[in-house]
Amino acid sequence: MSTRAHWTNRIAFILAATGSAIGLGNIWKFPYIAGVNGGGAFVMIYLACILAIGVPIFIAELYIGQKGQANAITSFEITDKKGTPWQIAGWMGMLAAILILSFYSVVGGWILDFEYRSLLGEFMSQTDEQIQGTLGGLFADWKRQMFWHFIFMTLVIGIVIAGVKNGLERWNKILMPALFAILILLLVRVTMMDGFSQAIGFLFSFDASKLTKAGVLEAVGHSFFTLSLGMGTILTYGSYLSERERLPRVAVQVAFLDTLIALIAGVVIFTVVFSFNLEPGAGPGLIFSTLPSLFVKMTGGSILSIAFFLLVTFAALTSAVSILEVPVAFVCEKYGIGRKKTTLLIGGFIYLMGYLSIFSFNIMSDVKILGLNFFDLFDKISSNWLLPIGGMLISLFVGWRLGKSAVDSALSDYPPFARTTFLWSIRVLAPLGVVLLMGHTLGWW
Ligand code: PFF
Repeated sequence: MSTRAHWTNRIAFILAATGSAIGLGNIWKFPYIAGVNGGGAFVMIYLACILAIGVPIFIAELYIGQKGQANAITSFEITDKKGTPWQIAGWMGMLAAILILSFYSVVGGWILDFEYRSLLGEFMSQTDEQIQGTLGGLFADWKRQMFWHFIFMTLVIGIVIAGVKNGLERWNKILMPALFAILILLLVRVTMMDGFSQAIGFLFSFDASKLTKAGVLEAVGHSFFTLSLGMGTILTYGSYLSERERLPRVAVQVAFLDTLIALIAGVVIFTVVFSFNLEPGAGPGLIFSTLPSLFVKMTGGSILSIAFFLLVTFAALTSAVSILEVPVAFVCEKYGIGRKKTTLLIGGFIYLMGYLSIFSFNIMSDVKILGLNFFDLFDKISSNWLLPIGGMLISLFVGWRLGKSAVDSALSDYPPFARTTFLWSIRVLAPLGVVLLMGHTLGWW
């Protein structure tokens, strides 16, 4: 195992894990579901979920990877025993990775398309109606979507082929600080706009009457997606971490940065929404159908538009890279196939699977499985089922199977109170949160 690549230092690892966590989930999904669920109350529950469910499972995942020093399946066998049934969590993670990346890359392609249009200055000469019709036009144009999906997957494959030191680490070192810088720039810019205080009020005032059961449960699910939990991503990244690292500190830092970015993105987007009297609950199209038409009305808008879509591209790329790393690390290690060949094979397969998501918006829009098109189906299966169940298994595995002694060794630098709290969070609190989510999905309550 000593030949296995490791991160050069803590900062590189933190940047990489943060790069995985921060993605379309923070910048596109968080603002829109916060908007749909009424703002402040949802945000509070989401923050509570990150702390009570997300952070404990994050530590548990890191622990399995760091102890196992191997991919998401073999690490279960190393920390438990060969053939352990708990490795099912790793297998579900492989499936989740393939499903998620197949549609994530398609959305990444839309972002690239909007970046390209921003660079051409296309939005600047258009009316609001034309701009708002852009996403619909792109949905109908499957060839154009295929092209951008191809470019996005090619970038992801290229970075993953280069491996931990040359690929993931180098890119994250460049991409993550750039992302922070651009977001802060946008944040400073929106403080000068009329809707700023309204956006702050919307996102941070707690109004319990706005709390719905659906909102609470959605917050649970999103805490998995946004922290990249439940499918072995954090486990795999943890396996490139040396044995000395203090895991809870890493988990809290990543969760903090991830949440900070989501909140900043939320403030930026809702300031724009309120400044121009738009609908906060507009849904998944929020950034695509509203922001460009708002950028054109602003001083320096063409630059802001370019910066914004570049930022989202960065965020989506670093997350996508971490998703592809999960099956690549497994196939490379398990079957001894070279990294380049494995990445090309799996990446190519995922690229082709992405066609099903692209066709969901045009030539195959009538094809429904369980009432869903392929795009929604892949999203629902992974976010609502595979990630929560995977996270629950990981939590139960460390909490009950590896048990108290593992927790004591993982948290040896921490006081007994912290260890007990952590132990019971992964034994009971986190799994219970997941059961609530599943029950809701099944219509039990
Ligand atoms: N956390 C990423 C985001 O918020 O966009 C998405 C993601 C990455 C989910 C990696 C799951 C994963 F394993």
